[in-house]
Amino acid sequence: MARTVRVLLLGFGRVGSAFAALVEERRADLRLRQGLDVRIVGIATSRAAWRGEGPSVGGLLEQVRGGVAFEALPGVACGWDGRRSIEAIDADVVVEAVAAGLADGEPSLTHLRVALGQGRHVATATKAALVRHYAALRALARQNGVHLRFGAATAAALPTVDFARACLAGATIERIEGVLNGTTNFILTRMARAGLAYAEALAEAQRLGIAEPDPSLDVGGWDTACKLVLMANDVWDAGLTLDDVEVEGIAAVSSPDLADAARAGRALKLVGRLERGSDGIAASVGPTALALDHPLGRLEGSEKGVTFWTDTLGQITVSGGQSAPRGAAAALLRDVVHIFTGPWDGPGPEG
Ligand SMILES: NC(=O)c1ccc[n+]([C@@H]2O[C@H](COP(=O)([O-])OP(=O)(O)OC[C@H]3O[C@@H](n4cnc5c(N)ncnc54)[C@H](OP(=O)(O)O)[C@@H]3O)[C@@H](O)[C@H]2O)c1
Repeated sequence: MARTVRVLLLGFGRVGSAFAALVEERRADLRLRQGLDVRIVGIATSRAAWRGEGPSVGGLLEQVRGGVAFEALPGVACGWDGRRSIEAIDADVVVEAVAAGLADGEPSLTHLRVALGQGRHVATATKAALVRHYAALRALARQNGVHLRFGAATAAALPTVDFARACLAGATIERIEGVLNGTTNFILTRMARAGLAYAEALAEAQRLGIAEPDPSLDVGGWDTACKLVLMANDVWDAGLTLDDVEVEGIAAVSSPDLADAARAGRALKLVGRLERGSDGIAASVGPTALALDHPLGRLEGSEKGVTFWTDTLGQITVSGGQSAPRGAAAALLRDVVHIFTGPWDGPGPEG
């Protein structure tokens, strides 16, 4: 018999709605292959919440895709937000896909504190609160005997922290390098392959919906820096913050820089680096000329990748993964499945 998993979904934007669609699509498969009966019992945005009444999740998705505003749908209560929904809707796991500010982590910080404090497992795609408050949030999860998973926030479809925990278990990870941001890799690839100037490649990425209208977090290297902080804190318990990362973005990269790299048999990539030394963890982000036979040097377009150096398993690279919101939604679903079919990748609730 399948185990029922009641999901409260926070955020019904690009990633949240893709997650709801994926759960609908995969329900039978999840039952059959994972023994999980995953049911969305609530969906909250910043202004309204659906609490399992009225239309089904499939019906909600159809109407929202047809242009009806979420808060105008029957069964949707206005004036609710994520926090109120966590407090009022009984669920086994809170799945979070909300936009949050890097400065204070809100509203994600409140969501995570309230959900973990109430003994709910959490899977989140939102980095902001974790970047500043990971140690405290993890401690709260452990006190309450629940999992806090964030694979979707750490390069989404590309397995990074999940891969380290599951597949590198028992080895010591000494160094990590990653091309962790698809937008910047797309821009650098278009500059190198089509001879576009930085501004032209950025404009193309924005036209294709690859870059955000405000691309500063991506092109400034901050998105990569956030992912490094999350990885270092998960892998090494490093207590790293964004202030510990040296960050340089790609805005100053010019066509001659790319041409010089190509003549030297290299490709310029925005590389995030973590290295464990006797003084702690050195963390940096910056444009780097990688040899073409380097596994990350070959990544094209919005592809991402990460290389781990370990003492016993050698050097291992994972690359690829879908960059779109559906990939992030699938990473959230992967985390939900792992929470309920673990504990293959501890540390679990008891630390
Ligand atoms: N897009 C991607 O491919 C991707 C990949 C990996 C990670 N992420 C991360 O996933 C998160 C969501 O991204 P997205 O692209 O789906 O953003 P989005 O389309 O802007 O959607 C954000 C959602 O968050 C909701 N929200 C904001 N404040 C809330 C609150 N207090 N309570 C409940 N819901 C609230 C918004 O509701 P309203 O409409 O009412 O404001 C909206 O439904 C972000 O943190 C992003 O960095 C995104």
